[in-house]
Amino acid sequence: DTGTPAATPPLGFTAVPKNLADKVTVPAGYSAYVLFALGDPLVEGVAAYTNDGTQGDFDKRAGDHHDALAYFPFPKGSTSSTEGILAMNHEALTDIYLHAAGPTPDRTGATGPRPLAEVLKDQHAHGVSVIKVKKGATKWAIDKSAALNKRWHINSEMALTGPVAGSVFAVTKLSPNGRTCFGTMNNCGHGVTPWGTFLTGEENWNAYFNRGNDAAQSDAVRTQAFARYAITPNSKGFNYRGWDTPVDGTDLQKRFNVTITGASAAEDFRNEPNHFGYVVELDPYDPTFTPRKRTALGRTSHEGSWFAPVKAGRPVVVYMGDDSRNEYAYKFVSAANWDPADATKGPAMGGKYLDSGVLYAARFKDDGTGEWLALTPDNAALSGKFSGLAEIIVNTRTAADLAGATKMDRPEWGGVNPKTGEFYLTLTNNSSRGTGGPAVDAANPRSYEDPKGAATQRGNVNGHIIRLADSSGDAAATTFTWDVYLFGAQADAPAATVNLSGLTAENDFSSPDGLWFDNRGILWIQTDDGAYTDVTNCMMLAAVPGKVGDGGQKMVGAQKTFAGKAATPDLVRRFLVGTPGCEITGVDMTPDYKTMFVNIQHPGESGTLTTFQSNWPSMTTDDATVTGTAITRPRTATIVITKNDGGPIGV
Ligand code: FEO
Ligand code: CA
Ligand code: CA
Ligand code: CA
Repeated sequence: DTGTPAATPPLGFTAVPKNLADKVTVPAGYSAYVLFALGDPLVEGVAAYTNDGTQGDFDKRAGDHHDALAYFPFPKGSTSSTEGILAMNHEALTDIYLHAAGPTPDRTGATGPRPLAEVLKDQHAHGVSVIKVKKGATKWAIDKSAALNKRWHINSEMALTGPVAGSVFAVTKLSPNGRTCFGTMNNCGHGVTPWGTFLTGEENWNAYFNRGNDAAQSDAVRTQAFARYAITPNSKGFNYRGWDTPVDGTDLQKRFNVTITGASAAEDFRNEPNHFGYVVELDPYDPTFTPRKRTALGRTSHEGSWFAPVKAGRPVVVYMGDDSRNEYAYKFVSAANWDPADATKGPAMGGKYLDSGVLYAARFKDDGTGEWLALTPDNAALSGKFSGLAEIIVNTRTAADLAGATKMDRPEWGGVNPKTGEFYLTLTNNSSRGTGGPAVDAANPRSYEDPKGAATQRGNVNGHIIRLADSSGDAAATTFTWDVYLFGAQADAPAATVNLSGLTAENDFSSPDGLWFDNRGILWIQTDDGAYTDVTNCMMLAAVPGKVGDGGQKMVGAQKTFAGKAATPDLVRRFLVGTPGCEITGVDMTPDYKTMFVNIQHPGESGTLTTFQSNWPSMTTDDATVTGTAITRPRTATIVITKNDGGPIGV
């Protein structure tokens, strides 16, 4: 026990104004430059990126849509702030910029099969990058000579572990034993385990599949799993890109057609979706370690996996979100108790702590308390509905429905406050709340019309951040208390109904998505918004939170009115504004807090090949704060932020 931790330091920078500029804006006295952009080579011998869509080799280049990232000091076991490894997710694609003339003959292959080379580029530009980075005399750079540099993508061999591994639900033509599997996709949030490995969450994996006209087929289990994850007859998901269409495609491409036709086992890919939707563990220090899909943590649209501080002799606890409208918050409690000696044992510890335990879904009660509902065969609410734990996991959402969990306003990223052990969770927005979906409740209390009036949006337009404290300070407890920490709103929205946290011009925001606590207790909030982007590009804020019940916005009475401490700029302050079309996602710092890494995801996402929407970053300078050169396609990129005086960031 290290005693009472030092108080979270006060914020010490000038708020960045909202803006629509085609550059990254950071506070006065700070600098930002591009480190790792779409297409950048990971290894020696690969040509510099030309950014015209003509190059392949994406199994050796930065993928697209950089999302969560984590810094691991190098060498392993050190606390180096000048040499390390970045592990980084590549969630999805802006595919018009990835190919010379956009995807051909069309994105879905509806007018003819897509060329295999394009499909492989699409598939390889997803997944995870692991790169060695080092600080030189003035700037950080990638060490392309490092043997550990690695791209994991949609066709990389991986393994299923935990309850689903080896079950009938996991057997496909490509996996006769139900244990091997291929690839990870739509990697969004992340986790860092107490034993030093990287976890990557598979988010909108369900949206890549093609399911044909098979409504008349009966296969109750599979149909249930498909329907609850929006893989419906005669549908192609919103991320479908015709990967099953190349005439010379292999099973790694064909598997994206999962039509239930009663096909022979020789061509049966119907269980392929059951290989996705998991938390995947990989070792950033060892490219030969086969990534493991830890199925015990549930099958959802995973964001990240956030660990409660480990305590000797107690279970390891992981909190998680499921980013879809009206889905749930989850936590996993390991069967094994934590042994501090395991902290240095690396990936061998994953099986001990992440393959057996209990998965829970959260019920938030209107009185400010809550309970964790076990998704196990011995929960009476699940009795007789599933053949066992493997089937419960494959149908995690259905199990949580039956258990009576609370439908939330799109649970995205979370974080555990190192000062209190409390869990924070972004609820990004929900267009269906009170507008045909669930009615408002205490934990999802707002349904309103976007006050800006144009292009009217309804429901929980701007999102909020909820937080909970497990009972008695025990992360493994099955009850908790909670409050709403912060409501998103534009500053001029009605204070009584929308701007409930009293946000000002220096900290108003919409649609919180990414979330990260640094070890000083400063909370970093990142946005992915469609409601306030007429006024400002997406942003990152820094905050000094308190704890549940000490001034958070607590519901008073049954009138859905709120009382709490106003979120003054002392407590919440805008630190960064990104580029048009981008989302800000992924952030980490070196242990000395002097270097920050942030991802600017999908700048120019709404552009076309004639009107890019954004030209950031410039191809002629790596200064992220310079407006992009007018002729270049936009590129997702990792930036480095430092303070000009070399001091710690944010304070
Ligand atoms: Fe990939 Fe829900 O953000
Ligand atoms: Ca996101
Ligand atoms: Ca989002
Ligand atoms: Ca995104």
